[in-house]
Amino acid sequence: MSVKVSPERAEKIRRGLLTWYDEHRRSLPWRDDPDLYHVWLSEIMLQQTRVDQALPYYERFTEAFPTLESLASANLDAVLRQWEGLGYYARARNLHKAARQIVRSGSWPRSYEELHALPGIGPYTGRAIASIAYGAREAAVDGNVRRVLARLFAIAYPAKRQLQSLAESLLDRERPGDYNQAVMDLGALVCTPRSPLCDACPVSTHCLAKASGEPDSFPVARKKSSPLQHYDIASGILTDDGGRIFIQRREEKALLGGLWELPGGKRNPDETVKAACKRELLEELGIEVAVGRLACKVKHAYTHYKITLWVHYCRILGGVPVSTAGLQTAWVHPCDLEHYAFPRANRRVLDALTADSA
Ligand code: ADE
Repeated sequence: MSVKVSPERAEKIRRGLLTWYDEHRRSLPWRDDPDLYHVWLSEIMLQQTRVDQALPYYERFTEAFPTLESLASANLDAVLRQWEGLGYYARARNLHKAARQIVRSGSWPRSYEELHALPGIGPYTGRAIASIAYGAREAAVDGNVRRVLARLFAIAYPAKRQLQSLAESLLDRERPGDYNQAVMDLGALVCTPRSPLCDACPVSTHCLAKASGEPDSFPVARKKSSPLQHYDIASGILTDDGGRIFIQRREEKALLGGLWELPGGKRNPDETVKAACKRELLEELGIEVAVGRLACKVKHAYTHYKITLWVHYCRILGGVPVSTAGLQTAWVHPCDLEHYAFPRANRRVLDALTADSA
């Protein structure tokens, strides 16, 4: 279904949004200095993360890598270490890959199309970056914008193309970046998913959802996903005579790809965690181990599943640990673990263990 907005109504909404934005916009570091690198980094971080969660990462990341060139010349481990805890690590790998691509090509992307061609930059992110960093006339529709537009026009089940077309008819051609961010901020601060603050909304007189008396029934919520699946993960601690700990690096394409971890894996339904640990170390590293006492147990919920990580001290009975899958491995002194990026649950285990031995 196509929804048309008259030029007069569009102008009133646009003016209302921008006037509100000038007074109420959030003070965010990349807004003070909207150069390509900072805007790009912020948009990648905000893809799956709320602004308040992303901010401390943004500050640390830009301190570690103040320029695109410094990011391109860093190694992936250092980049993932800065990203550790933020999740969706493909974002960091793609950011790093794209930075290298730009530096190698010698020219920065200058348009939405050139941005969109880079790893990790989809239609929304490309339009947001192009409008904010370059003032390109591109309308960006993210989750917040979707909600604001669906309510303004009382659309229960908005289609992507319909929203894109509405966003384009409202776009301010002189201040496209500010217009996009005005709608994003309105969605985050006022037009919230539940109990929107319509009294504080600069465009409430134009809002059909408000007029319906049930603003938060638009858009109709997507079906709740089923409860998170739970897995027991059995991992082992191997130490050498020098007190170093054995770790291995997850495959790049895997979930949590490129991060390091203790060797181990999922427990099968018919196994004890100790048996799973013994089997996993044999399969992954070709070694026979005696599984000793439990060193640590942590529960952790990732976005798509939750785990209980059982970590046992292990002693090698036969063989030398070599990854049978050809993964990178390392023996690392506890004081050097901070230089490697780990998934949250592994980091919690290692922190607990190194605190015990400190
Ligand atoms: N969410 C994604 N990008 C944003 C931005 N530039 N400002 C506010 N919220 C955002």
